[in-house]
Amino acid sequence: DWTMRAFKEEAIEKIRAQVGKGKVICGLSGGVDSAVAAVLIHEAIGDQLTCVFVDHGLLRLAEAQKVVALFRDSYNIPLVHVDDSDVFLKALDGVDDPEQKRKIIGKLFIDVFEKEAKKIGGAEFLAQGTLYPDVIESVSFTGGPSVTIKSHHNVGGLPERMNMKLVEPLRELFKDEVRALGRELGLPEAFVGRHPFPGPGLAIRVPGAITKEKLDILRLADEIYIEEIRRAGLYDDIWQAFAVLLPVKTVGVMGDFRTYDYVVGLRAVTSVDGMTADFYPFDMRFLGNVATRIINEVKGVNRVVYDVTSKPPGTIEWE
Ligand code: XMP
Repeated sequence: DWTMRAFKEEAIEKIRAQVGKGKVICGLSGGVDSAVAAVLIHEAIGDQLTCVFVDHGLLRLAEAQKVVALFRDSYNIPLVHVDDSDVFLKALDGVDDPEQKRKIIGKLFIDVFEKEAKKIGGAEFLAQGTLYPDVIESVSFTGGPSVTIKSHHNVGGLPERMNMKLVEPLRELFKDEVRALGRELGLPEAFVGRHPFPGPGLAIRVPGAITKEKLDILRLADEIYIEEIRRAGLYDDIWQAFAVLLPVKTVGVMGDFRTYDYVVGLRAVTSVDGMTADFYPFDMRFLGNVATRIINEVKGVNRVVYDVTSKPPGTIEWE
């Protein structure tokens, strides 16, 4: 794709001009955006770049291993894997407000990046895979000091107290363009085609207060849902699909026993850029099959519902 080749060359020049001989830290989230940003920056400045993958305990099943393997095995990019899940989960204990969750996670991310920056002898720059829609959605809506839709970040409540300068080479791009750039950079198709995954991770897919138990239940339910979507050949038709764990228990019956367990919500939407979205019209038999599997295989869940809200008025995530 010649447009992307031209964009790539220009972006590389801009990164070199901005960074000079400085060191850059890039936070990898496991998503497409940060991976593309990292590979692009690596092409521009080589070993002046260190990638940091933070496990905040809010990742999907086996996510950390998958991302670390991709970067260590397929690229020669220095990668630090920080497991800070205890710190994040402790800080989030009892917190139920979505914006508060994002702020806490964003602040802790910055703490990790600053610590890692020191370790490599001082990095002045922090790279992020911020896209154009992230830029727009985090800017206030009505002009003046008004409501932000979400502190959209990528990394969170940046950057007042941060000592690092931002490198954001994807700020002008939409998702489909980032994917094209990823292909241009030789990222594996399976990675380029991944559904978006938010920086705050499963924290915003467990509405209300987060517990380790809820996260574990959600990870299993989500894994089954995505597995069935892939098996049905629908993954690439869908912009984003995921499960949420509702903060409510309902009554069910299993064999001769009454159960009292959590409800899983399933979400799937089509979209071009995440700014508007339509719910995905699954075949009811498909949904019934997923519900049966989740209830049979995931302890703690006895009911599954499907979200038929489009955006607007709903958002894609539930928080
Ligand atoms: P919403 O829920 O606002 O989501 O319709 C639009 C897109 O943005 C993702 N999203 C986030 N990504 N940090 C991120 O990095 C966030 O706090 C965040 N909130 C939503 C969401 O997954 C969807 O792709």
